Amino acid sequence: MHISASLSLAALVMASFTAQSQVAPQAQLATPQVAQVVAQTPPMGWNSWNYFAGRVDDKGIRAAADQVVATGMKDAGYIYVNIDDTWEGERDASGVLHPNAKFPDMKALADYVHSKGLKIGIYSSPGSKTCGGYAGSLGHEEQDARMYAEWGIDYLKYDMCSFIPDVMEKQAPNDKPAQMRLMIAAYSKMDKALKVTGRPIVFSFCQYGWDSVWEWGPSVGANLWRTTGDVTPEWDRIYAIVSQQEGLEAYAGPGHWNDPDMLEVGNGKLSLEENRTHFTMWAMLAAPLLAGNDLPNMKPEIKAILTNRDVIAIDQDRLGKQGARIYSDGEVEVWTRHLAGGALAIAVVDAGDSRYSTHPFHLNLHKLGLTGKQTGKNLWTGKTVELTDNMPLELASHDVLLVRVDKPNSQLQ
Ligand code: GLA
Repeated sequence: MHISASLSLAALVMASFTAQSQVAPQAQLATPQVAQVVAQTPPMGWNSWNYFAGRVDDKGIRAAADQVVATGMKDAGYIYVNIDDTWEGERDASGVLHPNAKFPDMKALADYVHSKGLKIGIYSSPGSKTCGGYAGSLGHEEQDARMYAEWGIDYLKYDMCSFIPDVMEKQAPNDKPAQMRLMIAAYSKMDKALKVTGRPIVFSFCQYGWDSVWEWGPSVGANLWRTTGDVTPEWDRIYAIVSQQEGLEAYAGPGHWNDPDMLEVGNGKLSLEENRTHFTMWAMLAAPLLAGNDLPNMKPEIKAILTNRDVIAIDQDRLGKQGARIYSDGEVEVWTRHLAGGALAIAVVDAGDSRYSTHPFHLNLHKLGLTGKQTGKNLWTGKTVELTDNMPLELASHDVLLVRVDKPNSQLQ
């Protein structure tokens, strides 16, 4: 968003909230917010849900923060430690939401995470209940946003869940377009509430891609938006999600990203190849990199994947241009991502399991807009590679070849 546009939006937001007199005196007196520069590259961090789900607690979040530092993940760029669902307790008579017994002191926890040089995220819903059945923010949006800011929260994942039956289906039965308008208004409401706090808070939309959120999300404050339903640690689900990202590349850019959901690297029974391909494709997609594994028990080979700086550099490339699928040949797909300084990342994925050396895949450089020999770096072996037109490539099932070519020889030259 342009700074001038966000400043005028800021003025409007301040005016409307002041008029409603719904904010606490200190918030009314707060300096009007300036443009919040967050998520200029896809957010990186760790989230509790994919591995711990309802077992997350204060101790686990502290341990995760410790591990993000100890494993070198922080140095590699992982900054947000995000508490997902199941932290919420009950609201008191003044409507203040208290954390449940698993989180005795949220402010102290935030201070601890910050003391490690990290940032902290939290989770809520525009409905009365979260997906896990805990208290959501419906009717308490400003109050909750203020509380997050007081705790020192840096990131909010806002998950639609019970807003569907609570509001959309109740207020607009059988009227999908009206339901979608209610949904958009709910996200906009929390965006304004967050902005009024004056604290830079990354706003993560979790409404599973409904109503082509990539088209309207950024205009109501989304820094990232889920494009699909939930990821699971299974190859078929991960590959299905990758396939659903095709065509969405136009909507991503600094400050606003497509979110194909959090990482499952290191979870379930994913093979090493599958973990590598999953991480590669999230980097090609300029996706948020939110690890979701059991950090205190992370295996060295998983740490090596999550901290591969060359691959992270693809994800975090400052141009912020999401990669695209250029062509496929049977179950082999070729994706490219244009990088700052004219470099190109090329990912060749063997999504199938039935191609053998009698019929290896042949790379077509012309389809990638390239001509002649390309010298690059294989980002998973660290070795220099040369790509030539029609060269045979043998890839194990569900494995990937990821090459960065800093000076591509393009057909236009
Ligand atoms: C939904 C979201 C998940 C997670 C759970 C928590 O399913 O998509 O990412 O936040 O809710 O209940």
